[in-house]
Amino acid sequence: MKICLLGASGSIGSQTIDVINKNPKDFSLVAFSVGNRTRCISYILRQHPEVKHICIANRLKAKEYSKKYPNITFYSEETGLLELIRNSNAEMVVNALVGFVGLLPSIESIKCHKKLALANKESLVVGGDLINSLLKEYKGELYPIDSEHSALWKCLKVDSSDVNKLILTASGGSFRKLSREELNNVTPEEALNHPTWKMGNKITIDSATMVNKCFEIIEAGYLFNYPYSKVGVTLHDESYLHSYVSLSSGGYRGEISKPDMRNPIKFALYQGNIPFKTSFFKSLDDLKGLHFHDFDMKRFPVIKFAETVLNKKGTMGTILNRSNEEAVYAFLNHKIKFLDIERIIELSLKNMKYIANPSLEDILLVDRLTKEYSQKLILEFGGNK
Ligand SMILES: NC(=O)c1ccc[n+]([C@@H]2O[C@H](COP(=O)([O-])OP(=O)(O)OC[C@H]3O[C@@H](n4cnc5c(N)ncnc54)[C@H](OP(=O)(O)O)[C@@H]3O)[C@@H](O)[C@H]2O)c1
Repeated sequence: MKICLLGASGSIGSQTIDVINKNPKDFSLVAFSVGNRTRCISYILRQHPEVKHICIANRLKAKEYSKKYPNITFYSEETGLLELIRNSNAEMVVNALVGFVGLLPSIESIKCHKKLALANKESLVVGGDLINSLLKEYKGELYPIDSEHSALWKCLKVDSSDVNKLILTASGGSFRKLSREELNNVTPEEALNHPTWKMGNKITIDSATMVNKCFEIIEAGYLFNYPYSKVGVTLHDESYLHSYVSLSSGGYRGEISKPDMRNPIKFALYQGNIPFKTSFFKSLDDLKGLHFHDFDMKRFPVIKFAETVLNKKGTMGTILNRSNEEAVYAFLNHKIKFLDIERIIELSLKNMKYIANPSLEDILLVDRLTKEYSQKLILEFGGNK
């Protein structure tokens, strides 16, 4: 299988390269993209001389690299990501970009009849309905990379007719042991210290605020066609139970393994066609050595945003994603406080334009308007810091 990897310089991107390197008979890397971290390019090319197309976010950098590697076609900026997908002869696109920038490449992959292995959960949060209708129209294939959704996919593969609820597990992020009051003065540096996963900066902050879990509830809703009322969350300290399902016949089924993103990446690259293991258990108490806690909505109120988005759909996901994206980077740059992130999202969901059945153009418009509105709020909140 020929692979085009978007976001090769990131955490999921580099682990995808590990999976490809370990399975050279089944996969070859033919195209990839990086953002600003260009230093990995020569390293990747030494391992994968068959690469003929590369996209670099910065136009001048792309020009510089095209002189260094004249046999490779270089593209740049966000339109370059779409050209990369169109022009490479890849059969599968792995979308490991972070944020809204991943949406159009997901859409383009489906339109170009490439299989889509999706780590970029923002694509589904923003455009879940649009992506699902394109998958139908183009007879496309989408394989989730998120560890929780990979686990749910496996459980549903065993017997989907017996499943009555999907339950995502959550580590609770870097601040799981702090009270709401203690969250007031936490710093970006503290937030970046995640207890169980080593990930990119944005998703690490999303885990600390629990917006990541909101995204995953929404992602599960769109991927498996489940309503909000049928997707639950349980706190789990060790991140060994990756997620589980409750069975109509009684008991639960879940995937238990050491946390390592290379496992779900591999499962997606093989399109689910490799052996896997799920475990049946009567109750969480049967899983000795693993620790679980009930989910407390008062401690983690942001989960209500997932309810709003999955119940109302339309442009709600676009508003949630953009206000979060702006607020997260403002927090990382010390412009606002940690709890301002959820305040900015809440105000945006309340005040921004809602369109029930948005076209792609509507989504792009609401994204832009939400960006302007969130930036205004960031200035206001920043003044109070
Ligand atoms: N990390 C995990 O364990 C994990 C687990 C499950 C799901 N996910 C999801 O997977 C996605 C990637 O996460 P990650 O942790 O791998 O993030 P990351 O380490 O920050 O990597 C993101 C990648 O996207 C590129 N990128 C960012 N903005 C770009 C832009 N405007 N134009 C072009 N490229 C751009 C980055 O390029 P540069 O760095 O070169 O600038 C990098 O290659 C996210 O949606 C995340 O929620 C991650």
